[in-house]
Amino acid sequence: MHKVYIKTFGCQMNEYDSERMAGILSGAGYTITQDEHDADYIIVNTCSVRQHAEERAISFIGAASKKHKVIVAGCMAQRLQDDIIKRFPGVKAVVGTFNFAKIAEIIKEEKRRVYAGEEQTDVFNIRPKKEGEIRGFTTVMQGCDNFCSYCIVPYVRGRERSRDKDSILEELGEMGKMGYKEVMLLGQNVNSYFDRKNSVNFSGLLREAVKVDGIKRIKFMTSHPKDLSDELIETVAAEPKLARHFHLPLQSGSDRVLKLMNRKYTAGHFMGRVEKIRELIPGCSITTDILVGFSGEEDADFLQTVQMAEKIKFDAAYIFKYSVRKGTAGEKMEDSVNEKVKLERLNNILELQKKISENMASANIGREMDAIICAPGRADRGLLEAVTDTNKTVLIPAGSGKIGDTVRVRVTGARRVMLEGEVI
Ligand code: 5AD
Ligand code: SF4
Repeated sequence: MHKVYIKTFGCQMNEYDSERMAGILSGAGYTITQDEHDADYIIVNTCSVRQHAEERAISFIGAASKKHKVIVAGCMAQRLQDDIIKRFPGVKAVVGTFNFAKIAEIIKEEKRRVYAGEEQTDVFNIRPKKEGEIRGFTTVMQGCDNFCSYCIVPYVRGRERSRDKDSILEELGEMGKMGYKEVMLLGQNVNSYFDRKNSVNFSGLLREAVKVDGIKRIKFMTSHPKDLSDELIETVAAEPKLARHFHLPLQSGSDRVLKLMNRKYTAGHFMGRVEKIRELIPGCSITTDILVGFSGEEDADFLQTVQMAEKIKFDAAYIFKYSVRKGTAGEKMEDSVNEKVKLERLNNILELQKKISENMASANIGREMDAIICAPGRADRGLLEAVTDTNKTVLIPAGSGKIGDTVRVRVTGARRVMLEGEVI
């Protein structure tokens, strides 16, 4: 019996693709191992979004391919293709983002080669799931048509493709029967979801998804600020099974930089969306992505980003330092911010956001909310981890319920961004 270890870099979409590869391979008789050293094959599912992510994957591949048969999958595989085969003699195959559905056949192939053609199988219909899980993912759409000038995703994940509503509902139904309680619907831009056959948009999909038996909570990401409709905000406000949470990437608070980034909205529009969310959905959490040091970003632009972050008070922000990606529109712009300034800006805003995130967590003390118990406490065995309907982790005493239960929690404290609570 051959053993396969899967190493995943990058976003939740990649984690989900790794789960799907694991499912296909176990169906084909392979054992998925958690021990890298014990594996016959190592699949490295890579990310290309930032230079740093690629560098980490490259060094992992370099070390692993000396001892194991390595297969490189994901965004970097799609981007670099043959270069990976040439550079690493121990790499057996390179599998692009459209081709992983064939992983069980690819792994058996003796000849070293690149698989990076167009989608061969309906990847949306590959949906292996694990027994005994409480939280899971599924994809509703893939690809991106937005072409933000810094971003490689449209090139490595292709154009937007929305999945048929019935296939999503069927999968949610299966997950409900298997015991999943919370599902995250994934898409690069979920607001652009549109099922042409049934003429259903994302809000329409959500209204049907909440009716699926067994699933107690539905979350989704990522929402593009330019496409976030009133209808979607109203839908989240109206449906108690939808998590009170939006991941809404700001990237920059300067209209000039947003324009250079080709984001197609202004800081004012973004602010308007945040106000609408907070008006219709009290206590809704809002998280974001911020990109510092983009080409052309001056001190004054960065200051506007800082001011936006101070004003909005995101519950959490993923903050990144710009790195040029080959083949994007950004590559042709002068990378005008030097590394030292990029780093200063990064640290500056990280520091600010850390305080804001902690304050936002503490603001929950005394509040009551629904939480799903999802795991034993990782650091403390006397505790259970539960996830709130605002997508925060709350630690509750062991014995407050069993895994999978929904409990009403009163928040009693905050440990940085994690909450502490008691069941009422
Ligand atoms: N450099 C740094 N960060 C990037 N992101 C996307 N492209 C780049 C890049 N070239 C960030 C954006 C995006 C998140 C997923 O990654 O903030 O929202
Ligand atoms: Fe990249 Fe922009 Fe598409 Fe997001 S919306 S995946 S940042 S191109």
